[in-house]
Amino acid sequence: MRNLILMIIAYLLGSFPSALVIGKTFYNKDIRNYGSGNLGSTNAFRVLGKKGGAIVFILDILKGGLAFLIAKYAGATISPLIIAVFALIGHIYPIFANFKGGKAVATSAGIILFYSPLLFITLFIIFVITLKIWKMVSLSSTIISIAAVFIVWLGNYDLTARIMLTIFAVFIIIKHIPNYKRILNGTENKVSFL
Ligand code: G3P
Repeated sequence: MRNLILMIIAYLLGSFPSALVIGKTFYNKDIRNYGSGNLGSTNAFRVLGKKGGAIVFILDILKGGLAFLIAKYAGATISPLIIAVFALIGHIYPIFANFKGGKAVATSAGIILFYSPLLFITLFIIFVITLKIWKMVSLSSTIISIAAVFIVWLGNYDLTARIMLTIFAVFIIIKHIPNYKRILNGTENKVSFL
């Protein structure tokens, strides 16, 4: 019962549509109508600017991180990573935004930050390097998702972490299919500040 309640809490946390709330409240913009239309921090940076994007990014990181930490310290009898995956499901299919959310990159990053800061830093470095080279957040997000899978399967991580991070990567890759189509036809958005 406790695990189920924690899963529901994680789903509701993940469902909080940060990009929508910050865009509408402070910028009077529904970011679903701009840029890629995605309810995520990349599109928030694109549409709302650096400050708005940073706030959305931090909130999305916190959603994942909090779901993980609550599960960890509220006595979950299964791995907090299993509970935290419901925050990803909430972020992608938010009950508070017609079940159309984001692509789960920042929320996954928040979970990983509190699960293994070292893994987070490693992925962050790979993200920055690949973003500098190709300037596409979608591509860098995909590369770090795949890198995370390699790291946990080849490194000293338990089976639950291996399976859950593989699930994170599958979610992220499926949600980026429209981006891959744009990359292939040369129309994917590139970041301008690098
Ligand atoms: O985190 C999402 C990012 O990888 C792609 O976002 O808005 O360019 O589709 P977007």
